[in-house]
Amino acid sequence: MTRKSQLHPVSRHGVVWLQWKLVIFLYVALSLLSLLCIHLQYYSVTMLEPLSVAGSHIPPRKYPGDRPKVAFLFLTRRDLPLDFMWDRFFKGADQANFSVYIHSQPGFVFNEETTRSHYFYNRQLNNSINVIWGEYSMIEAERLLLSTAIDDHSNQRFVLLSDSCAPLYDFGYIYKYLISSPRSFVDSFINTKERRYSMNMSSVIPEEKWRKGSQWISVIRSHAELIVNDGIVFSAFEKFCKKAPPFGSQEAQLFFRQNLRNCIPDEHYIQTLLTMSGLENEMEPRTLTYTVWSVSGTKHEAKSWHPVTFTFENSGPEDIQEIKSINHVNYESESRTEWCTSDSKSVPCFLFARKFTKEAAMRLVSEVLIGSSKNVAL
Ligand SMILES: *[C@@H]1O[C@H](CO)[C@@H](O)[C@H](O)[C@H]1NC(C)=O
Ligand SMILES: *[C@@H]1O[C@H](CO)[C@@H](O)[C@H](O)[C@H]1NC(C)=O
Ligand SMILES: *[C@@H]1O[C@H](CO)[C@@H](O)[C@H](O)[C@H]1NC(C)=O
Repeated sequence: MTRKSQLHPVSRHGVVWLQWKLVIFLYVALSLLSLLCIHLQYYSVTMLEPLSVAGSHIPPRKYPGDRPKVAFLFLTRRDLPLDFMWDRFFKGADQANFSVYIHSQPGFVFNEETTRSHYFYNRQLNNSINVIWGEYSMIEAERLLLSTAIDDHSNQRFVLLSDSCAPLYDFGYIYKYLISSPRSFVDSFINTKERRYSMNMSSVIPEEKWRKGSQWISVIRSHAELIVNDGIVFSAFEKFCKKAPPFGSQEAQLFFRQNLRNCIPDEHYIQTLLTMSGLENEMEPRTLTYTVWSVSGTKHEAKSWHPVTFTFENSGPEDIQEIKSINHVNYESESRTEWCTSDSKSVPCFLFARKFTKEAAMRLVSEVLIGSSKNVAL
């Protein structure tokens, strides 16, 4: 009773309040509507993008916020054994200057239990796939990483890294190096020695555009978008690039009769796609990741190339300095010497190196990265 009677005296107040409520309601409704409009507009733009074919140049879109970010894309088997080193590296960065993405085996979650570095918490792709090394699933994983990373419009450079890669400089140096170059860094050359190209691809990929190069690339945003939106060249790789059956077996005969090739997609796809798209003038044809290759196997066995591992013994400051002072690379098959430049300035060729063991990474952290004030400025 008392409650009811108390409600009555409010009448004048109540009317004013009701008017206010109406105003607030209208305001909120209008704001929501305009937000929806912006969203729809944005959506129609992004939805149209997949229609652009390989070769068409997508103009760079303005990114919100004031800073371009470098996206670090990790391609791992499971966890990141060198997370402590990257933790140290990212500590020297401004949080607004970078982002991290990881492609790991499906279901593997980066959290307090699986990594010691908070930079990796929940940074794993949720749509990752099982990767078979040397098959097209590897480039599919790379495309998934790029596809997730381009969702953040601030990401302007995209660096692909393995779980055994290590940075040779502090964050500031690497950031400036990448951002100040308007080009991608994609190792790309004509390989005359190997027969990886299948003639069955010729309707999609002209043989003269076929290129080889290191898997470890760094691309600008428009190239990342091109790679993500390409369905055509990727399909050709999916169809004709397979792991070869053992030499001499019946399956192997059939394999070669069908013109299938063991074409190592991760060392051909991106370089071939960019070359086909006429973008050679937008790339520095070299990798930023240093690898020493060594050949194993006797005359009778099949020779196999594999990267030399950095261990505690060969990862001291002098060893690292030697890599840092490399300023050109020779491409024998093209009789080309690539003098390393970035935005037409002479720069060290390499920002990263692989493969590092845990002990090597520990030594790098304590003897090189911490003493990073000695790094030459760009
Ligand atoms: C994957 O999903 C989790 C949980 O929803 C989320 O926290 C995480 O950020 C997602 N990963 C990426 C790369 O978006
Ligand atoms: C972060 O980005 C800004 C703007 O691009 C740059 O001036 C600054 O040096 C960067 N900081 C680091 C630590 O990389
Ligand atoms: C490649 O082309 C040849 C000749 O046209 C054909 O016999 C073969 O089946 C093709 N291979 C595949 C995998 O389609």
